[in-house]
Amino acid sequence: MKEQLLKLKAEILAELEKVNRPEVWRALKIKYLGRKGELTKILRAVADLSATEKKTLGKLANDIKKEIQEKFVEVKAELEKGAKPVYVDVTLPGEKIESGHLHPITILQNEIEDLFAAMGFMVLEGPELESDYYNFTALNIPPYHPARDMQDTFYVDITPLTPLSKGGEGGLKYDLLMRTQTSPMQIRAMQKYGAPLRVVVPGRCFRSEATDVRHEHTFYQLEGLMIDRGINFSHLKAVLEEFGKKLFGPETKLRMRPKYYPFVEPGANGEYSCFLCAGRGCRLCKNTGWLEIVGCGLVHPNVLRAGGLDPKKYQGFAFGYGLDRLVMLKYAINDIRLFHSGDLKFLKQF
Ligand code: DAH
Repeated sequence: MKEQLLKLKAEILAELEKVNRPEVWRALKIKYLGRKGELTKILRAVADLSATEKKTLGKLANDIKKEIQEKFVEVKAELEKGAKPVYVDVTLPGEKIESGHLHPITILQNEIEDLFAAMGFMVLEGPELESDYYNFTALNIPPYHPARDMQDTFYVDITPLTPLSKGGEGGLKYDLLMRTQTSPMQIRAMQKYGAPLRVVVPGRCFRSEATDVRHEHTFYQLEGLMIDRGINFSHLKAVLEEFGKKLFGPETKLRMRPKYYPFVEPGANGEYSCFLCAGRGCRLCKNTGWLEIVGCGLVHPNVLRAGGLDPKKYQGFAFGYGLDRLVMLKYAINDIRLFHSGDLKFLKQF
């Protein structure tokens, strides 16, 4: 027992000599002095010895315990003072830091911005909380216009009007809303930069929708606007053709079919030949050979006027489309709700 004690003492002192970090110190303390520590165990065994043995061994055991405890305190103080050099094992493998990546919508948005920037368009962003005036009225959609029905949204600011009893119009006035489209930035851009003008506006839009695989309350659009003297349909066609080729490949064809939008005249729907079946007809294009992508047209004179420009001097074209839909086509994503799901299984694929 005596030998065992002395051997353990020497071992502990030798170990303590090597301690250079607080974690090592703590581990040793537990190993020898913890509740199930090696020294603790021997000291406990001493208690079971006969009275005579206890006399000689007991004192030795207690002295050793005291000495070791003091040594632990001393080493700890040295560590705290920084008296001992800290060794770093440079041969240990490093910790792996996982880097994040861009959201699929951002990836495509960046690509499209680069494409338009190369054609001389500037990239603008606009307010998501927009006024009724910019979102509708200035875009040739006055308050009574039925086109408002198709774009229900979230109205934010509710201003009480002068009560009827006080000779006012009574009721509430909804003035601010979450924009339903990026088109209001057409007006803001014209007002701020005048003409000539080339601008694209990516951004979030909102609609009060019943959500399903193709509809979300929050989604992305990208708006384009070009204003100059003598702009006509062929300019619009050229830009959209360029865009389609870049997006879906050099063989891509564009066709335009008449469509009504209040802020353009004439208005059209730009459709691209299906990149999956090259126009032969498949499930993606519902056997038509064409994908409806982009609303467009020549800017309505009322819209130019709202932007502070004279329609006799300047003309322009505009276009706008859903960015989510493009991303869904490009990556074969079958549910728009995945974009905002925060589902890592989905996001890690890009
Ligand atoms: N803002 C339209 C929408 O949300 C899309 C659009 C159509 C934009 C025609 C345009 C345009 O600039 O000329 O449905």
